[in-house]
Amino acid sequence: MIPRSESVALMNAVSPTIKRLIAEHRARREHWYFHEFIPWEQGRNYVDEPWDKSQCTLRPEVRTALLLNLLTEDNLPYYYGQLATTYGETESMNDWSGIWTAEEGQHAIAMRAYLLVSRNVDPRILEDDRMTMVERGWNNDIQDPLDLFVYTATQELATRLSHFNSGKQADDEIAYELMKRIAADENHHFMFYSGVVAEMLNHMPSEVLISMAKVNAIFAMPGTTMPQWTRRSLEVAKAGIYNHRVHAEKVLTPLLRQWKLDQLTDLTPEAEQARDFMMALPGQYLEMAESFEARLAKRAKKPVTV
Ligand SMILES: [Fe+2]
Ligand SMILES: [Fe+2]
Repeated sequence: MIPRSESVALMNAVSPTIKRLIAEHRARREHWYFHEFIPWEQGRNYVDEPWDKSQCTLRPEVRTALLLNLLTEDNLPYYYGQLATTYGETESMNDWSGIWTAEEGQHAIAMRAYLLVSRNVDPRILEDDRMTMVERGWNNDIQDPLDLFVYTATQELATRLSHFNSGKQADDEIAYELMKRIAADENHHFMFYSGVVAEMLNHMPSEVLISMAKVNAIFAMPGTTMPQWTRRSLEVAKAGIYNHRVHAEKVLTPLLRQWKLDQLTDLTPEAEQARDFMMALPGQYLEMAESFEARLAKRAKKPVTV
């Protein structure tokens, strides 16, 4: 964590960039209405016709991915809380936090409407798990404004892929269009956060690199507090919706390239070490992906014994 005086100086230095990126975000985004994406004509009364698994139209792993993504979005109060706590004294970030929260809010509303109308989720499990998750809350221990920018840039890109791949694998036009629309929002969020990090690199490259290494060494997605996280995230990983390979190839590698980490100069020795760590990270994730894939292939070949 950098000293508070440096943190304040850094936030002041990037404030014009934050304002510019907010203006670009407003100009770029198309406001969309979730009610236009939902197949309302499929809706039936749950009291007269209770939910049953046989009503589901999507594959189990896709339903799990959509449920995991929705529950993650449901924890929005905690994400807003963290932004407000970390950036409360930065006027431009207060503007951003409002825009971001309003946009994120629609994601859970839209996915919930889709899943309930299409009956691709057990509505009781969805509500019980939402209650548990929000009661548990979320705390990722990040307090430093720089660390939170680094974390959120990575998380938004990861979330974009998780949403997009869920829709793509759904093999259902409505689910695909909805998730593509949500993924586009996440991409705009990613562009904002990664753009601010890029500007931070211009001001304090060593400090930013050290933050990147610290944050990425323990990186975890915000949904980890949900019930059955391990089982659900494993199912999503096996389906190729989000796993170590996606993280290496579609998140870390583009980020390293976008931030031009290999071209930074005048770094402290500690920052050089942090850069080495970051440059090696996609390879480490790929190694984990390969051993995961090898285990899956081995299991698939095993004869089933009765
Ligand atoms: Fe979202
Ligand atoms: Fe987002």
